[in-house]
Amino acid sequence: MRVALAADHGGAPLKDELAPRLVAAGHEVVDLGGDGSDPGDDYPDFARLAGDAVRSGRVERAVIVCGSGVGAAIAANKLRGIRAGLAHDTYSARQGVEHDDMNVLCLGARVVGPALALELVSAFLAARYSGEERHRRRVAKVRAIEEAESGPSLADMGALPAEGAARQEASAPAAATPTVSRQS
Ligand code: RB5
Repeated sequence: MRVALAADHGGAPLKDELAPRLVAAGHEVVDLGGDGSDPGDDYPDFARLAGDAVRSGRVERAVIVCGSGVGAAIAANKLRGIRAGLAHDTYSARQGVEHDDMNVLCLGARVVGPALALELVSAFLAARYSGEERHRRRVAKVRAIEEAESGPSLADMGALPAEGAARQEASAPAAATPTVSRQS
């Protein structure tokens, strides 16, 4: 399969380990960077590159690696037409495609090592969307959410902006004095 790999500065070493192994397994790899040398290689930039490669048809699927995989998944799912999943178990890596038509797999380089990562990507690339009626219905509902979201901005709707949760927390009434204190 033709697959794009992309990584922020935290994910580049794992991406670079995966690329030759995927080629050896018979896949065609399009490496979208980064090379891990620049802390300014941020996950949203590489999520966009990978998502655009999928949406344009340049590749069939993409794998994005960041430190945890979380940021990559959050960013990639902002792109219309992208169904990204963070999967650190092979069941989800496969079933995400079969049921949810996942087209981008996100991985955390600080969570999984190269051997497991290769198994995850292999499961992801080997899987095919089942297209069963109940799954098509659910994917269509996801698409409907996406379409609705392309309407007015959150600000226009009077909703909280992206960093609103933190702001809300800051303005919340002070919590009662804790009876148990923990150090983290
Ligand atoms: C980078 O330090 C790290 O925050 C990023 O790679 C990723 O883990 C975000 O989800």
